[in-house]
This record gives sequence, structure tokens and C-alpha cells, in this order.
Amino acid sequence: MQQQANADLSAVRSAAELEQFRVRYLGAKGAVKELMTLLGKVPKDQRPAVGQRVNGLRESLTAAFEAKKSQIESVGDAIGTDVTEPGARPPIGRRHILMQVIDELVELFGRMGFTTAAGPEVEDEFHNFVALNIPPSHPARDPLDNYYLATHAHGSAMGSGDEAKYLLRTQTSTVQIRVMERQKPPIRVVIPGRVYRPDTHDDTHLSMFHQLEALVVDKNVTMVDLKSTILQFVHAYFGAETKVRFRPSFFPFTEPSAECDVWFEDRQRWIELGGCGMVHPNVFKAVGIDPEVYSGWAFGFGIERIAMRKYGITNIRQFVENEIRFLRQF
Ligand code: DAH
Repeated sequence: MQQQANADLSAVRSAAELEQFRVRYLGAKGAVKELMTLLGKVPKDQRPAVGQRVNGLRESLTAAFEAKKSQIESVGDAIGTDVTEPGARPPIGRRHILMQVIDELVELFGRMGFTTAAGPEVEDEFHNFVALNIPPSHPARDPLDNYYLATHAHGSAMGSGDEAKYLLRTQTSTVQIRVMERQKPPIRVVIPGRVYRPDTHDDTHLSMFHQLEALVVDKNVTMVDLKSTILQFVHAYFGAETKVRFRPSFFPFTEPSAECDVWFEDRQRWIELGGCGMVHPNVFKAVGIDPEVYSGWAFGFGIERIAMRKYGITNIRQFVENEIRFLRQF
């Protein structure tokens, strides 16, 4: 057995193999222990001599084991290994595709002179509705169309005139108000952020999505500035040939208002980016800016839509499913 053990020990190349050796020969159920238990069956007169040999075997195996152990510890597991081989790379994460798109948009508008701003996702009714010229009777304030917070929602959210109620913001237009409250014109800002609406989920709708809001306020700002800025953005982001169309629309906080669509040749159809318009005088009055002196324009576009179009994503749910094979593509 001594010979076999020595052969096994010299074949050991790693700490794991050494541990296997230890278990096999020196462990609680190992070969040496087995010899010890067999000692009881040896005739009494021969027992001391045999016992001595077993002890000798154990000591020499233990010594050889210890020697091998310190050898392995000093060289590590590298015995018999090509230490110049590249190591295993741990997988590294990446920014979510939607965050990449937001970065691209902020960068692009940055080159056109826009700074960025942010505001809270839990909003009061003043910023989500009142200051945006959305009266208490407006259907957009219906509790069924908003996530009002239970803490302040007593009874109906409509018609009370109570502006201390809170809700998850339904639009990033809230941040237009917050920016104008703390900054005097000229203002040139984009606001990327999450918004919340109790929508039924399907391929193009989620109850949480992102908008890119823009606000420009200065003297002598006109609809031409609005249209040309959007046109520049679309051409830079989707390609110089991309067609843009403006359809008359209505929003309480803009007058006139329009819906902005982009033509996609491959699908032979218009895709709606979102709303835009000239800032309504009542919005300026709510934040103490004189509408006789200043004018402004704004838009609010859906970021998921922009991202889906740009990267050929067909189902909006993929943004929130955390499917690693989807996320790794970008
Ligand atoms: N807030 C609007 C929405 O969520 C979009 C919008 C329309 C934003 C017109 C604007 C605007 O800034 O001028 O549907």
C-alpha cells in the first residue's frame, strides 16, 4: 500500500487532488484507518509488531502528505497549468438599451444648446394639472386615468379644487413648470423621465414608460423654431431623408398644438412621436412669466417609441422583461 500511496501522491497536481488523496488514505474512513480496525483480528502475540508497522505507515504517509501540501501551497494550483493562458472573464453588465437611447437624445439635444433637467415622479396636482392649464373638470384628472396616492386621496380626485393630492406623474410636462419656477428665461431644456398611466399592457403600451420633454422660452420664439428644431432632431437621429409631419391637435398647455409624426419608408407608415406646441399664456402666468414679453414652445415625445424605431424593437414589453438575450444585443 505504501507504494501505491506514493505513486498516487506524486500524481497529485492540485489542492483538490491532494484533498482526495487525504480522504482516500488518511481520512476517517481511509485506508490507514481501515488497517487500524483490522488490527483487532490479528493474533494477540503479533499485534504489537503489526501495530508498529501500521503506525509507521501512517506517519510516513502523513509526512509525505504534509510535504506535498506545502509544495502545492507555494506554487498554487499552477502545477501543470499554463500560467500564461488568459483567465476566465467574469461577465460584465451594460447600460439598458433605453438608458443608452436617453444618453443619445440628451447628447444630441446638448449639441443644439439644450441642458437637461429632472423632476419628481410623485407629483402634486398643481404641477401635473393646475399649472399646465388642466382644469379640475378635465377628464385627464379622472381617478381611473391616474395613479393617485392613497395618503391624500379623499373621495373623488375631481372637482374639489384641493391641490395637495399626490399622484405618479402622467407626463414630463410637470418639469416644465418646475424649471420655470426656479429659472428665468431664456430657457432651453430637455427632460427625460418616467411617467405612469393605468393602461392595459400590449405590444405598444405599458403602464410605465418614458418621455422626452423639451421646453424653450425666450423673446420672439415662434412655431418656426419648434418645427425646425424637431426637423433637425429627426434628421440627425433617424437619417437626413426622414419626413416629418405636423397635425393640428389640442393640449391644454399649448396653443396652437400639434401632433408630430415621422414617416418610415420601410414600413410605409407614419409613426407618432408625440405632442408639441406653443406654450399657453396661462402656463406662463402660473409661473410668473409675462406672456406679453416671452413666448415658448414645447414637446413631449415617447422615448420607447423612438428606441423601438431606431433599434427595430417590435414589442415594448421587452424593455421591462429583463430577458438577458434581448438586453445583450445592444
Ligand atoms: N404631455 C403630453 C402627453 O403626455 C405631451 C405633450 C404635448 C408635451 C404637447 C408637450 C406639448 O410639451 O407641448 O401626452
